[in-house]
Amino acid sequence: MKITVIGLGYLGATHAVAMSKTGHQVIGLEKNPAKLESLKQGKAGFFEPGLDEALAVEIASGRLTFQADHDENSAAADLHFICVGTPQTKESLAADTSYLFSAIEDLAPHLKPESVVVGKSTVPVGTAAALHSRLAELTGFEPHLAWNPEFLREGTALEDSLRPDRLVVGVNDERSEAALREVFAPMIASGIPFLVVDIPTAELVKAAANAFLATKISFINAMAEIAEVAGADASQLAEAIGYDERIGNKFLRNGVGFGGGCLPKDIRALMARAEELGVGQSVAYLKEIDNINLRRRERVVAMLEAELGNLSKKRILVLGAAFKPDSDDVRDSPALGIAMLAYAKGAEVVIHDPVALPGVALKHPELIGQQDLEKAFSDVEAVVLATEWREYRQLDPATVVGKVANALIIDGRNVLDINSWQHAGFKVLALGKNVKGNK
Ligand code: UGA
Repeated sequence: MKITVIGLGYLGATHAVAMSKTGHQVIGLEKNPAKLESLKQGKAGFFEPGLDEALAVEIASGRLTFQADHDENSAAADLHFICVGTPQTKESLAADTSYLFSAIEDLAPHLKPESVVVGKSTVPVGTAAALHSRLAELTGFEPHLAWNPEFLREGTALEDSLRPDRLVVGVNDERSEAALREVFAPMIASGIPFLVVDIPTAELVKAAANAFLATKISFINAMAEIAEVAGADASQLAEAIGYDERIGNKFLRNGVGFGGGCLPKDIRALMARAEELGVGQSVAYLKEIDNINLRRRERVVAMLEAELGNLSKKRILVLGAAFKPDSDDVRDSPALGIAMLAYAKGAEVVIHDPVALPGVALKHPELIGQQDLEKAFSDVEAVVLATEWREYRQLDPATVVGKVANALIIDGRNVLDINSWQHAGFKVLALGKNVKGNK
């Protein structure tokens, strides 16, 4: 089929590559000139393992092209996938849907009545209905508009797009359903569950999935808060409850909590939307999910203060800046949150990350970025492991122990081999447990 993908950030760039890999003819539309140029050169412009390589292959195949604006060629598409961002608004918890409405304004003059418009962005429930009305007003005909939420995770984005756990499509007309069945035919044939639902359900599925995931993480972090004062171990607790299949062991890793461009924003947007709909109470508990999450960052700084006293002028190393490994995304990153809290207390904060330092320099030039891992340890008083990059887990503590004045490390992700770090001479503290065996 012939498709367009409108908006080429994480979601759009990955979807465009996945659709091209599936065999479709894909036109990617991107308004940002620098991003567009980079995509044409086969560079997504962000760090996502395997994506640039796949991009180059798809461009070379001739199936994937990029352009700034709609034209006759793109107007001939069977489906238009809208993948623009819906960030949190500055003034409230709500999501900003204005990029969706501008995408519709641009598309309308070119839209053919038989083409299907498919929203993929994460939206407050009811957004699609508003977009539908606007599109009908602009085109003068009843458009085919469907919703197809995306569940990809950063770090495994392409794999998640090609082999998702399920495909969910929200439709209210037969043509949209038929077109979506055809575009996803190879995935459906491979056995991936294909759920056809109404549009509000499709919109809400995504918000619900992310709210549930955030709830799981904050649940185990709440248990970690209790474990810390009761002398229990939250990681062992997670393992023990995880064997119960009804609970499951995934997304129960306790630590500095969740971040990124999705989970924090999506639980806030769901609270805001529920409030608008008069059912705010139904998800009022998400406020506490958010609070538990943010408290973990403060807890790390409190641990530093308990060990080092006043943090003023103390040099602290934060290992990791990205919100998770295999990503250069620093949006709402717990690592950056901790770094900034320590900085606010007067600490000199050195931050290391294998790929995310350019993003840090843009957002927080007050932090001292250090790309060289061994050099990053020089003359610091304490270390916080905040993002579980493989190089930190594999680091030989003996090579760095001499550089850290207090030989203190706080494992914010519960990934270090505590014995070997202690053996090398470190005092190891961790979230959710009282570490034994420190000298
Ligand atoms: C999340 C969802 O997992 C995707 O399904 C969804 O498509 C995406 O948001 C989105 O809405 O676009 P992502 O933000 O890439 O994906 O990252 P996750 O893997 O969900 O991790 C989120 C955060 O939770 C990270 O900071 C991670 O370190 C943290 N986390 C995860 C924990 O603290 N503990 C865990 O057990 C798992």
